[in-house]
Parts: sequence; C-alpha cells; structure tokens
Amino acid sequence: MSKGKLGYFNPKKPMENRITDCGPQRYEQFLPPVIRKNYGKWVSHRILEPGLLMHVSETGDKVYTVRCGGARTMSVEHIREICDIADKHCGGYVRWTTRNNVEFITDSEEKAKALKKDLDARKFPAGSHKFPVGGTGFGITGIVHTQGWIHCHCPATDASGVVKSTADVLFEHFTDMKLPAKLRIALACCLNMCGAVHCSDIAILGYHRKPPIVDDKMIGGACEIPLVIAACPLYAIKPVTTPEGKKSVSVNYDKCMFCGNCYTMCAAMPLADSEGDCINILVGGKISNRITKPKFSKIVVAALPNNPPRWPEVTDTVKKIVDVYASDAKKYERIGDWAERIGWEKFFEKTGLPFTWHVIDDYRLAYDTLRTSTQFKFTEQAWAVSKTVGGI
Ligand code: HEM
Ligand code: SF4
Ligand code: SF4
Repeated sequence: MSKGKLGYFNPKKPMENRITDCGPQRYEQFLPPVIRKNYGKWVSHRILEPGLLMHVSETGDKVYTVRCGGARTMSVEHIREICDIADKHCGGYVRWTTRNNVEFITDSEEKAKALKKDLDARKFPAGSHKFPVGGTGFGITGIVHTQGWIHCHCPATDASGVVKSTADVLFEHFTDMKLPAKLRIALACCLNMCGAVHCSDIAILGYHRKPPIVDDKMIGGACEIPLVIAACPLYAIKPVTTPEGKKSVSVNYDKCMFCGNCYTMCAAMPLADSEGDCINILVGGKISNRITKPKFSKIVVAALPNNPPRWPEVTDTVKKIVDVYASDAKKYERIGDWAERIGWEKFFEKTGLPFTWHVIDDYRLAYDTLRTSTQFKFTEQAWAVSKTVGGI
C-alpha cells in the first residue's frame, strides 16, 4: 500500500483516509504457475529424500518441493535472503508451512537438487545452518513454539532458547526419516498453551511452583477484582478489605497450583520466580485420526530446572524419550499409540523416568484417569504408584 495512494497518516485526523476490514490478500495471486494450473488435480505424491517432495498431477505435471527449517523468529534481513533464494530458483514464489518451515517449489528434479545444495551450504557466521533441508516423513520437524522471554509477560520459561537447544540435540532426526512415525514436538512457556503442547508427541511446558504475590496497594486501581476471583480454577482467591480499608484479594496458598491465570487478569498478582519456575514434559498427544483417535498429551515429568542457555536437563530427557521410542515402537505407532499399547507403567520403566505423585491427576474429572482394573504389569514404577498413594 503506497503512501502516494493513501496519503500520509495524519495524527490530527486519524480517521481520514482510513482503510479497514480488507482482510488478507487472496491466496491465488501468490501461487506458483504450476500450482495454479494443477490446483485440485493432484493424484499422488512421494518423498524422494529427506526434505524433497514430489507431487504428480493428472495433467502429468510434476512439482518438486524443498522444505527447510526456520527459526520462526527471524529478521527482515533473513526474510530478504529467503526472497533472494525464491527469486533465484523458484520464479519468486515461496511458502511457509503450519510448523513454520519454509518451502520452495520448483518444476524439475534438477532445479530442486540444485536448490537443496544451495540451501544446505548457507550458514550463519557462527556456524548454524540457515536453511537446513528436512522436516519430511517419519522424523522430527520444526518445533511449534511461543514467545517466551522475548515478548510475553507471563512465561515460566523461554521459547526460542529451549527450542534451539532441543533442535540441536535432535538435529539428525530433522534431516533423516528413521523413526517409527512422525514425532511432533511443541513448546509453550506457560499453561495458556499457545500452540500445540496439549496435542503433541512430546511437549515442553513452562510451569510455576510458587503462588502469586498480591500487591495490595496497586490491585484496587489496576484490576477488576471479580475477574480475578473468577479466573482461578481452584477457587483459591477471595475478596478482602485491607486494614487500611483498601479493596484487595487473599490467596489460599494450600489451594493454589500456580497456573498464573490470576496474573493474566491482574497485573498486581505476579508469580514468576527464577528458582520456582520450571519445565514439565508431556508425551503421547496427536491430532490426526490415523488408526487411533486424536489424543491429549500426558504429563510424565513434573519439574526440570530452567537452566539457560542450553537447558541440558530438558534436552537430555527429550532425547531419552525419543531414543527409547525409536528403538521400541512398531512402524506407524506414534508415541501415544506405543505408550498405550505397552502400558504407561512400561513407558516409565523403559524410559527410566521416575514416577512421582505430581503426575497423578487430582483435578475434578481425575477419577477417569485412575486404574479401575487389575490389569497392570509389575514394574518398579507400578510399585512407585502404589507407594505414592499410600499403599505398599
Ligand atoms: C491353560 C489353561 C487355560 C487358559 C489359557 C484359560 C484361559 C481363559 C480365558 C482367557 C478366560 C476368559 C477370561 C475373561 O474373558 O475374563 C477364561 C475363563 C474361564 N476359564 Fe479358563 N483357561 C484355562 C484353563 C481353565 C480350566 C482348567 C478351567 C476349569 C476347570 C477353566 C475355567 C474357566 C472358567 C469357568 C472361565 C470363566 C470365568 C468367568 O466367566 O468369570 N479354565 N479362561
Ligand atoms: S504460552 Fe503463555 S507465556 Fe507463552 S506466549 Fe503464550 S501466553 Fe505467553
Ligand atoms: S495462580 Fe492459578 S491457582 Fe493460584 S491463585 Fe492464581 S488463578 Fe488460582
């Protein structure tokens, strides 16, 4: 939208020349010619090698797509480099995937191979790949993630830092396709779960472990107290009047489980804490309906420390889960399918993760997650559950 056409913004008359409700641009105008021509006519596709897809149309046309990793948060300079690559190899066309990978589309295998070589050769001055090719088939593709300490006010961990550390450790699975099935990893820096942590094979989730501190002086002016009270899933907050006669709230610390919802509603109830804040690991979620229904991911590790800049405890745990799954699961089994087939007590035994009371559900509909059956396998972890709930 040129300044010439619309005129400069005039702060004295903000509604003058104002254009609104025009929506996104129509996607058709950005389709590469070969995609536009064969739209709705595709008959088959194949993964020729990691990062290289081929689609065949009923017209006989073929398109070759090269997929490469993106850090999601990127500079305009980096976007310009992507545009330069698209200009050089793809007639100026490029697209992003739902997991924030970048895809370049070409109409011949030779062009695709040349493009792949070009992408793989590009590196940042410090040595990281700018455009690592991969993310297809039965491997680990881009990690869907959130804002972290880069931009949000309620995180319990960082996003970009943990994702970079994890992706480095699992890099071989981005550029290869040797797992039993697709493995989706997602990260969210608080339990708002922006993104896909609740439905991913492995999820990394920021979590607080200390209750909010109520700022009695500010709260009356800064917050709608009924909203704060209604924000709490455990009814831990009630209205009080301070000795000075100010309206405030009190938090029942025995009920609070540190979700941070009250802080989302009310800036006078901060709860972030450098030692308290930690990372949960969840596993076994999926979105597709392939063979089994979609599943929620389930918590298996209650607290790993926030240990910037490389989060070694988190990356070790994620790698261990990936390695055990890779060697034990059957073809096409997602992590959740595998864990449910062998039984969660076997999942804990095989991965060596300690079973702690934190992972036993105690929220409202918790009953359905308990074992109402004598069917279980004898494992150290099964005894741990028994001891945890007061049995032998
Ligand atoms: C190796 C030998 C045996 C095997 C593998 C076996 C296996 C089974 C199985 C799989 C069931 C079904 C359980 C269920 O669906 O909950 C069952 C039920 C039953 N079996 Fe056997 N069985 C064996 C020997 C015997 C013998 C020798 C008897 C009796 C003399 C017997 C009597 C029963 C009875 C009465 C039931 C039904 C129990 C019920 O309805 O609750 N079984 N058996
Ligand atoms: S997950 Fe939470 S902390 Fe992270 S971006 Fe979303 S709201 Fe902010
Ligand atoms: S952190 Fe969550 S559980 Fe604790 S008081 Fe606030 S809303 Fe309630």
